[in-house]
Amino acid sequence: MRILITGGTGYIGSHTAVELLNSGYEVLIIDNLSNSNAGVADKIEKITGRKPIFSKTDLCDRSGLKEYFRENKNIDAVIHFAAFKAVGESVQKPLMYYSNNISGMINLLEEMSENKIENIVYSSSCTVYGEADKLPVTEDSPVKKAESPYGFTKQVGEQMLFDASKVSDLHSVILRYFNPTGAHDSALIGELPVGIPNNLVPYITQTAIGEREVLTVNGNDYDTPDGTNIRDYIHVVDLAKAHLSALDRILSRKSSEKAEVFNLGTGKGNSVMEVIKSFEKVSNKKLNYRIGPRREGDVVSIYSETKKANEVLGWKAERDIDNMMLTSWNWQKAISGYKK
Ligand code: UFG
Repeated sequence: MRILITGGTGYIGSHTAVELLNSGYEVLIIDNLSNSNAGVADKIEKITGRKPIFSKTDLCDRSGLKEYFRENKNIDAVIHFAAFKAVGESVQKPLMYYSNNISGMINLLEEMSENKIENIVYSSSCTVYGEADKLPVTEDSPVKKAESPYGFTKQVGEQMLFDASKVSDLHSVILRYFNPTGAHDSALIGELPVGIPNNLVPYITQTAIGEREVLTVNGNDYDTPDGTNIRDYIHVVDLAKAHLSALDRILSRKSSEKAEVFNLGTGKGNSVMEVIKSFEKVSNKKLNYRIGPRREGDVVSIYSETKKANEVLGWKAERDIDNMMLTSWNWQKAISGYKK
């Protein structure tokens, strides 16, 4: 089977490419390299011993995309990751997010339709649930008004798939990721945040290695056991493996629904302080952190109900928070050339 991964040199895309190649799929990658580099394709080859077929192609360049599909035939399914993903940046630059994430996806879906590619696995986010009324969130929990342009682009992406599936041969699996973290055990691929990280775990590892002075905990006066926010952190390799199950389901037409949604989380919430404690334990380092004010737009707590993914996809997250911290730390040490 030939699978096209858009955004395949990015964080989740590269880990998914590894799992697919290890399972015998032929992997094609397109990426515009706006938040990654072509060297990642070489790392994927180093890990798997197999080469993904890489092309620097931008989904927003319609004629380039057309050309790409003219030259690359017999694609069985697309896994669509390529998108901007920084919540704060999306508030500052909404049109850039709408243009890239929505127009890019329309181009992709239209080209897929013209080339009779009928299967797509879509990278969505738990952000579509906003501040949930009931925890854990199930796939039937209401989709709330988006809190950021980024979140809105994920909601629109999902809706495009629901609507297109009704009137065409398109089959979709929509995966709502919780908080991906961790890195490959080889420490050859991982997350490469550009500039000052927004997300907790890269901020922790950059602080521990000395690239940032101090981590600010965004509030400890929330209504949670230790006062800090709770999230469902999931190891990126577990997440990547879920795409194998999703592909199998869609390619073998196991579902009666043409567009299906799954939450991908561990089902377990960890507070910011628990994440810090786990990091300190596995790295054997004391982290320099301070308690700061709440961050605007943060939901208090969110974690996933995993039953549907466990039972229907036959997939379950296996790695715990300590493993996420350990592999993130090993990755940070590798990219920073840490010698100690
Ligand atoms: N946090 C800190 N200090 C930091 C960074 C983060 O205390 O320096 C806290 C946040 O306030 C939050 C928790 O760590 O309580 C997790 O924050 P992240 O930024 O790592 O993750 P978010 O839950 O905010 O964001 C994630 C994804 C988004 C997605 C969103 C949906 O990164 O893509 O979940 O809620 F949209």
